[in-house]
Amino acid sequence: MAGKSTLLLVLCLLLSAAAKDRDLKQVLILSRHNIRAPLSSNLRYLSNKTWPTWEVEPGFLTAKGALLERQIGNYISNWLIGNGLLPAGCPDQNDIHVYANTKQRTRKTAKAFVDGAFQNCNITVYSKNSTKMDPIFNPIIRNSSLDLKLAILSEMERSLNSLNLRNAYAKLNDIVDLEHADICRIEGVCDFQTAREDLVYDIDDEPNVRGPLSFTNSIVDAFLMSYYEGMQIDDVAWGHINSPEDWKLFTPIIRGNLDVRFNGTILSKEVAKPLLNYVYNILKDDSKKFTLLVGHDSNLYSVMAAIGIKPYNLPEQYELTPIGGKIVFQKWHDARTGKSLLKIEYIYQSTSQLRNGEMLTESNLPKRVTLAVKNCDVDNEGLCPWDEFLEILKHTFE
Ligand SMILES: *[C@@H]1O[C@H](CO)[C@@H](O)[C@H](O)[C@H]1NC(C)=O
Ligand SMILES: *[C@@H]1O[C@H](CO)[C@@H](O)[C@H](O)[C@H]1NC(C)=O
Ligand SMILES: *[C@@H]1O[C@H](CO)[C@@H](O)[C@H](O)[C@H]1NC(C)=O
Ligand SMILES: *[C@@H]1O[C@H](CO)[C@@H](O)[C@H](O)[C@H]1NC(C)=O
Ligand SMILES: *[C@@H]1O[C@H](CO)[C@@H](O)[C@H](O)[C@H]1NC(C)=O
Repeated sequence: MAGKSTLLLVLCLLLSAAAKDRDLKQVLILSRHNIRAPLSSNLRYLSNKTWPTWEVEPGFLTAKGALLERQIGNYISNWLIGNGLLPAGCPDQNDIHVYANTKQRTRKTAKAFVDGAFQNCNITVYSKNSTKMDPIFNPIIRNSSLDLKLAILSEMERSLNSLNLRNAYAKLNDIVDLEHADICRIEGVCDFQTAREDLVYDIDDEPNVRGPLSFTNSIVDAFLMSYYEGMQIDDVAWGHINSPEDWKLFTPIIRGNLDVRFNGTILSKEVAKPLLNYVYNILKDDSKKFTLLVGHDSNLYSVMAAIGIKPYNLPEQYELTPIGGKIVFQKWHDARTGKSLLKIEYIYQSTSQLRNGEMLTESNLPKRVTLAVKNCDVDNEGLCPWDEFLEILKHTFE
């Protein structure tokens, strides 16, 4: 293990020496937590079949999730050290800021990352001591303006109407045996294809949907988590998901749910305002070399939508904000021009790296995809001017 890390480090040092005219100056990661037990305690309401049991409470990080997070933490710290941003060995606590939302899964993910990245170093993981969502990470509507409500609802409706999930819904009717579920008996929701969908818009709440999209989202999320957790294939969707094609049929439900709830241009700025402001202050201030913020897919989605990240694909993944995935904001200094540049990458583990709990080594690296900002022109290496980006970021919350 130590041998492999050292080898990786040497490799990174060699690679970075080859491109020495650009120096890495600052990194801020906005991360989703790693594998958790399904959130929905009402899965039994959605299907009367026997759901797999989990060793942790609903919504808690699993032991495997922590293991995967330690691995990606170790990979990222080697990359930071290889590029000279952090020293080998323990970094100075003053250079590092690790901050997680209040949920168990976000705290424990941050802790696991730090354990993997800065093993045996005394690095603090901050999170508010509260059972409520930390306001910085809480993607809720705060502004009670009626105009805003109408504008956001119209975005949500447009996005909802653009989804085409009929085939997935039809298959899920059968897979969960909806006709024999309590939701059918009690509420008359016996067919996801025809059940009504309501948009939910309340002040101090997350924008939401209630209907087939949210019901099937809970179901597919539970399938996906069991798959990542490495459960026997017969225990994933009761053996009904056997191929990449099956996942490609069902995972648009997860994307669609996030698209309606967190991808709107106006909506995203409203719900992500505190986090955008927080990220801006860290990037502008420059006092921390490395920041890790651990939140939720809703945070990543709304921040990307607000900034205007161009549509992207993540190879070997079905999700657009995969479990444990990280948006990595990087500030590079170009010695030739004296200018600072921004690079944004998505760093994530592939579906099979997650399911198989694969070690990350130089021959099995996590995936990296460069993201582009709509209004920031990039050079041929995917970097845009830092100051231009800060202006764009500032306009998202001001
Ligand atoms: C760890 O760091 C904290 C604050 O940064 C400090 O209070 C504590 O004494 C340190 N512990 C060790 C063992 O160095
Ligand atoms: C967190 O808050 C609770 C209740 O207010 C308190 O009992 C507990 O000591 C606090 N924990 C820490 C680590 O400050
Ligand atoms: C609330 O939204 C309205 C409509 O977009 C806007 O005019 C107003 O400035 C916003 N209020 C605050 C406090 O942001
Ligand atoms: C749900 O399953 C239980 C036994 O597992 C059975 O007694 C009950 O009748 C089932 N409910 C429906 C609505 O089919
Ligand atoms: C989010 O919205 C943008 C347009 O604003 C669109 O191009 C993109 O496909 C949407 N993302 C998803 C996952 O639907």
